Amino acid sequence: YKRVTTRSLTEMKLNAEKISMLTAYDYTMAKIVDTAGVDVILVGDSASNVMAGHETTLPITLDQMIYHASSVVRATLRALVVVDLPFGSYQSDPKEALRSSIRIMKESGGHAVKMEGGSEIKDSIKKILNAGIPVMGHLGLTPQSIYKFGTYTVRAKEEAEAQKLIDDAKMLERIGCFAIVLEKIPAALAKRVSESISIPVIGIGAGSGVDGQVLVIHDMLGMNNEFNPRFLRRYMNLFEGMTTAISQYVTDVKSEDFPNEAEQY
Ligand code: KIV
Ligand code: NA
Repeated sequence: YKRVTTRSLTEMKLNAEKISMLTAYDYTMAKIVDTAGVDVILVGDSASNVMAGHETTLPITLDQMIYHASSVVRATLRALVVVDLPFGSYQSDPKEALRSSIRIMKESGGHAVKMEGGSEIKDSIKKILNAGIPVMGHLGLTPQSIYKFGTYTVRAKEEAEAQKLIDDAKMLERIGCFAIVLEKIPAALAKRVSESISIPVIGIGAGSGVDGQVLVIHDMLGMNNEFNPRFLRRYMNLFEGMTTAISQYVTDVKSEDFPNEAEQY
């Protein structure tokens, strides 16, 4: 396999080839996602919700992110692996942000980091980039700031917030980020951002006028039947499929149907 790089993503945008991205947090799932041909695997801090059952992304630690990321890296031959810097690991100052990013690169083997925010974290992003670590930006709905906003509703519907988002996106391109995630903003605004910068824009709930799409793997496989935002397309109903299979196993054990003659020594 030829590894996807930050440069190949730039070329994909130039060639108008859309970029596919999904999350993964463990070896087995990452192996499947990589084999299926996904370009970028995100070890998202959504692991806090999906893997650990927390209500928000805030509790997950840097050590836990490194554990998830190292499992994903071991499974991946082709995809570029991007790792979220978790809440509290980069907000205090640029030195802390660099230290956390170095730990991710050294201890997990990931290929890039992602962090939420624009002008507020500009100095930290520059410091990380100066160390040779690729950074993916993340604007729009930024779940690590949920207690500041209070809701998970669509962002940047008002002109002032939309203008700040455009300015932030241009700044992230200028200082050297290789790509940006735009989460839950109007499709027209996301398209405008994508057309005004040359680095790839990956959307989630940001419409079709961007350079690629990302979803949380458990959501798109329908493993989680409690999360139903408009932007989510379910490709399977694994919650139902797995529950049916597992209850069949319970029935077979109880009825002594399993194991049969061929399934024993
Ligand atoms: O943590 C995550 O899964 C993310 C994506 C939704 C972009 O940041
Ligand atoms: Na995230």
